[in-house]
Amino acid sequence: MIHQSDFLIIGSGAAGLSFALRIAEEGSVIILTKKKRADSNTNYAQGGIAAVFNENDSYDQHITDTLEAGDGLCDPAAVDTIVREGPRSIESLRRWGVAFTADKSGKGFDLGLEGGHRHKRIVHVLDKTGMAVESTLLDRVREHPNIKILEDCIAIELITEHHLMGGGKSYQDKVHCWGVYALNNTTSRVETFLSRVTLLASGGTGQVYLHTTNPAIATGDGIAMAFRAGAPVANLEFMQFHPTALFHPQADSFLISEAVRGFGAVLRTQKGEAFMEKYHPMKDLAPRDIVARCIDKEMKKRGDECVFLDATGLDAERVRKRFPQINEKLLQLNIDMTREYIPVVPAAHYMCGGVVTDLDGRTAIEGLFVTGEAACTGVHGANRLASNSLLEALAFSRRAALSAREYFRDSVNALPRIPPWDDRGTYDHEEWVLISHDRREVRRLMWDYVGIVRTDERLNRAQQRIRIVGEQIEAFYKKTRVTEALLELRNLAQTAELIIRCAVFRKESRGLHYNTDYPERDDVNWAGNTVLRGQDIRLERHCL
Ligand code: FAD
Ligand code: SIN
Repeated sequence: MIHQSDFLIIGSGAAGLSFALRIAEEGSVIILTKKKRADSNTNYAQGGIAAVFNENDSYDQHITDTLEAGDGLCDPAAVDTIVREGPRSIESLRRWGVAFTADKSGKGFDLGLEGGHRHKRIVHVLDKTGMAVESTLLDRVREHPNIKILEDCIAIELITEHHLMGGGKSYQDKVHCWGVYALNNTTSRVETFLSRVTLLASGGTGQVYLHTTNPAIATGDGIAMAFRAGAPVANLEFMQFHPTALFHPQADSFLISEAVRGFGAVLRTQKGEAFMEKYHPMKDLAPRDIVARCIDKEMKKRGDECVFLDATGLDAERVRKRFPQINEKLLQLNIDMTREYIPVVPAAHYMCGGVVTDLDGRTAIEGLFVTGEAACTGVHGANRLASNSLLEALAFSRRAALSAREYFRDSVNALPRIPPWDDRGTYDHEEWVLISHDRREVRRLMWDYVGIVRTDERLNRAQQRIRIVGEQIEAFYKKTRVTEALLELRNLAQTAELIIRCAVFRKESRGLHYNTDYPERDDVNWAGNTVLRGQDIRLERHCL
């Protein structure tokens, strides 16, 4: 089956939905999403969205905090861009219908505080900001006559020159994207989605690790697809671990928002000792890479399985009111956060790298735009400042919509004749145990060898293992009729391999990449982005 639209969007999180709303006046829009429409990282966001509204705050201060968290790798122009777009992004969401939590006067926003921020600047909807953003954007999209969302459709590959009939031609120059092949899970058929403009807004990669705050959709599909199509990807060694995921057998990796620490909660060892003051002047609100590493160190020092977050010293009624979702979840597990410590551990949370884009979401592939967590825009550098990612997704999707509109108006050529998906030589295999086993193996390997603290020995082992597992998966993929589980496994393994390549390459410690064999930051040799293009890997000051 062939579908055609003026604009094609992969992903229904904040990046994809906000782009759709901004572009839909220009033409028809199809959004593909691989599970149900609200299944996204966006839906789980708790803390909120960073933007300058406090009268004591300033753009300069937000920029400085972002650059400091990024540990020397942020692109100052990209940071400047999102910070100045902050108030406008919040205003757009408010107009679309997001009811942000108001301050006492009822006129302004109640601004939260999170790690690395020197001012209160987190606009939020209590501790359910993501859910409010996701459901509001979905409501607006549902009302729009030009936008169609197709659920249970997983994009497999970007369609480029590589897929054109009559092979043999050399396409050395510009690569174009004309849409995607996608598996429609309700019919089990691969369908062709054609468009002159494709936006990849496929989100993050947390599922590559055994323990993650990310939902099941975050398997790095967009990064893997774009890389296979020839787009450069960058900075994948910078996987952010959130310091405080709940440590509980019945709720692995439920997030305890950094906003709880911003509200006054303190990290403690099992013996009740507050430890962050030993490590950083901002104590429990130091940047995330530092807090996660300190927790890891304290746990290893004592052989403890977790540390604790102590909110017991705070006003109980205010805590319950400000964090209703977290409080309720903990009560279900018989933890009263107003009277007991919360057991927490770090977990994989956010991919700072991604597909390289310019400040308008353009990539090295014509007609392909990328925004949100799948993109590497230069904003986050070596470590993302808390609550800057929803802001980045919204700000860059607005800018990408403007540049996509220009591109659409200028690109008048008809689409080339695209062949249907070719599955000759593939069969239904019954070896599903291989898929679940390989998925577990990749996730465990990444957790054990490519985690918060790395060494050359562990990284080299990880690289050897992933090569073997990756080749086995690729061989199995080539002879097997595609399923969602197989496609995700292939992308997961490929993303893991790319993360490891970047981590092996960088011989220093910076931001989220900490290698005990090179414990210092080395600005003379390594102050650049790790850029991967096919087999090539190199350091570049600016990626695109
Ligand atoms: P997502 O929201 O993840 O959307 C990706 C979409 O792509 C999904 O619909 C998915 O199904 C779809 N998709 C993926 N692959 C395919 C495919 N092959 N085919 C079709 N569809 C596909 N950030 C903040 O700024 N503030 C916060 O408070 C905050 N809290 C967070 C809390 C948690 C628990 C988590 C996990 C993240 C948090 N983040 C926060 C990060 C932030 O939520 C994400 O970075 C952001 O939502 C990413 O938006 P996105 O649109 O790029 O991706
Ligand atoms: C949180 O609420 O702690 C998550 C914020 C973020 O990831 O930006």
